Amino acid sequence: MSTIEDAVAIDGDKLMQFVFRAVDEVGATLNTALVVMGDRLGLYHALAGAGPLSPAELAERTSTAERYVREWLNAQAAGGYVEYDPDSGRYTLPPEQAVALTEPDSPAYLPGLFQTALGSLADSAKIAEAARTGAGFGWHEHVHDVHEGCERFFRPGYNAHLISDWLPALDGVAAKLERGALVADVGCGHGASTILMAQAFPNSTFAGSDYHDGSVGTARRRAQQAGVAGRVSFETALAAAYPGTGYDLVTMFDCLHDMGDPVGAARHVRGTLKPDGTWMIVEPHAGDRVEENLNPVGRAYYGFSTLLCTPASLSQEVGLALGAQAGEARIRDVVTAAGFTRFRRAAETPFNAVFEARP
Ligand SMILES: C[S@@+](CC[C@H](N)C(=O)[O-])C[C@H]1O[C@@H](n2cnc3c(N)ncnc32)[C@H](O)[C@@H]1O
Repeated sequence: MSTIEDAVAIDGDKLMQFVFRAVDEVGATLNTALVVMGDRLGLYHALAGAGPLSPAELAERTSTAERYVREWLNAQAAGGYVEYDPDSGRYTLPPEQAVALTEPDSPAYLPGLFQTALGSLADSAKIAEAARTGAGFGWHEHVHDVHEGCERFFRPGYNAHLISDWLPALDGVAAKLERGALVADVGCGHGASTILMAQAFPNSTFAGSDYHDGSVGTARRRAQQAGVAGRVSFETALAAAYPGTGYDLVTMFDCLHDMGDPVGAARHVRGTLKPDGTWMIVEPHAGDRVEENLNPVGRAYYGFSTLLCTPASLSQEVGLALGAQAGEARIRDVVTAAGFTRFRRAAETPFNAVFEARP
């Protein structure tokens, strides 16, 4: 039997470079669970600002078992998440890592991203089976870590950009919201964006909707806790059928590409908007061509897209499956197919593109 090595000249150094890179990736894959573990057990919080700690000191402060904590710390040190001092046998969380791992209001906050990734991996065997047949796998079928991790990951970015940059980048929208506008936040998940807008614009009224009943229940609780439930309602509805008309603004945050029938949803948006209304579409940052997305951000998005977004769309009617790296041209096609006459990119960050569509 001939092997690849017989058929082509193999560069042994390149082969070993690839193998060692892959070993690093196995460490990174396992670290996804270790970051969630550190988050859940309060290990990062106990390390943050505490100076050098021994495994026994960290275990005592977190009411955990020293032997587990020592092994976890060594894995964290090997990955550059904590620093190890061999002389004292103590471990320190650098201040930058402390911000990214323990401050939920920082745009750099990471635990939600890891929690979503871990939830996606938990369902990966089912996705592999679905890939044999092309069957879908709905957002609602995923484990809770996907839903909660998504909220925890996206909220810091919305805190940083939505009120200060994205809404002001839309033509005349911030002024309408100040005066008092009617807003539909479609595919709202746990309602992080809805509640943030409601807090910023006390004269406006917000109608959130999502097809996932569990997420809608959480969004209602979050609105109560935030004290905005009087002006914020949440309904379980498909994007192609959410209730109400006469909206000044319809928003969709990171959900258009998850929908089976984004053109049908876009038509419904057009039918529910006032003639001078605005549709704001926030999508993952992406170039139109595959080769433009072959970078670390694109890699993460293509990974989530394979495990979450594409199966979610395929589970619904039409199953257009835009994917999380659809790019501006495909989003424009969806918007114009529904009869919108104006479309432009209004703002962007390294992770998101913000589009404005007008009837
Ligand atoms: C990635 S999550 C984003 C959630 C939320 N917008 C956020 O930014 O945190 C995608 C959301 O789209 C919702 N979704 C998917 N297909 C939908 C559809 N056809 N109609 C309404 N919601 C949908 C899912 O239930 C999920 O909450």
